[in-house]
Amino acid sequence: MKALLTLAIETSCDETSAAVVRNGREVLSNIIYSQIDLHKLYGGVVPEIASRNHVEKISGVIDEALRAAGCTFEEVDQIATTYGPGLVGALLVGLSTAKALAFSLGKPLIPVNHIEGHVAANYIAHPDLEPPFVALIVSGGHTHLVKVVDYGHYEILGKTRDDAAGEAYDKVARALGIGYPGGPQIDRLARLGNRTAIPFTRTYLDQDSLDFSFSGLKSAVLSYLNQMKMKGEPIVIEDVAASFQEAVVDVLTDKAVAAALRSQVKTLVLAGGVAANSRLREVLDLKTKANGLRMLYPPIELCTDNAAMIGCAGYYAYKNGHIADMTLNAVPNLTL
Ligand code: KG4
Ligand code: ZN
Repeated sequence: MKALLTLAIETSCDETSAAVVRNGREVLSNIIYSQIDLHKLYGGVVPEIASRNHVEKISGVIDEALRAAGCTFEEVDQIATTYGPGLVGALLVGLSTAKALAFSLGKPLIPVNHIEGHVAANYIAHPDLEPPFVALIVSGGHTHLVKVVDYGHYEILGKTRDDAAGEAYDKVARALGIGYPGGPQIDRLARLGNRTAIPFTRTYLDQDSLDFSFSGLKSAVLSYLNQMKMKGEPIVIEDVAASFQEAVVDVLTDKAVAAALRSQVKTLVLAGGVAANSRLREVLDLKTKANGLRMLYPPIELCTDNAAMIGCAGYYAYKNGHIADMTLNAVPNLTL
């Protein structure tokens, strides 16, 4: 059978990325241009700057993805693009480019949900992974527990009622004055701190709920920092980072394991930018092992935003008959 080549484009936030993926799971190229250095100056992603930089970089990134994969536009079978959720101006750059390519080349245009893309990163990393399984998706914009019933078929088991886990990391990091993005910095500092130094409350919500809430924890950290400043007492940022992280990780891991057990699946997968977190991986390993579950993670470069995961999700979307026409628009608050 002839191989199916997907050219995928991702511009939903602050990474401009293009990839070529063969038959869904084999990544021939995955070019990622990160704008992080531009946004760092402002302590977070500035939507206008993100859109403008996507416009500047997208053509070069696509050319490089094709060159690295050793193929031409004509050899590509389909164009997959993220159309939501994300920043509307940023999404539109990748989406418009994908539409222009699909139209001019006469190839199918495949719409991909960014959250599905994060889950699909695990299909690339683990060639034998098949649904059903439960996914914990933790990123800057999302915190979801999802049962992947089949390719493209999801049941939402729980989600955040306020801040996403990554958002809480970024806000706490900003309060600690350790820069953007906060996740990797807190991860690094936490390794040097005492996880039990400050007993921040864990928010489990109603009994049996698989929803999350991180805004109370974020406020508790901010109020702790203010109190220490008012009392003139020293703040050990390593201890704050470690204690905050432990509170996030405790809740995420307890609920993820409960979701897998309740769904009667044998496999739990982690996805999204926060999946890069070393303590989250460590605790998930321990708790899944204790409960007889198989635990899978994507490698770090497939955790944060990239087009290879969009190419993989796009392959399965195509197999399920999801082909868009030229009226496809960006949907900033798209859900699974
Ligand atoms: O998936 P992603 O690249 O973008 C979204 O779709 O949101 O995730 C970015 C988020 C940021 O909030 C960043 O702070 C967080 O992932 N992150 C981490 C780590 N690396 C990235 N959070 C905790 N620990 C990390 N090592
Ligand atoms: Zn993402």
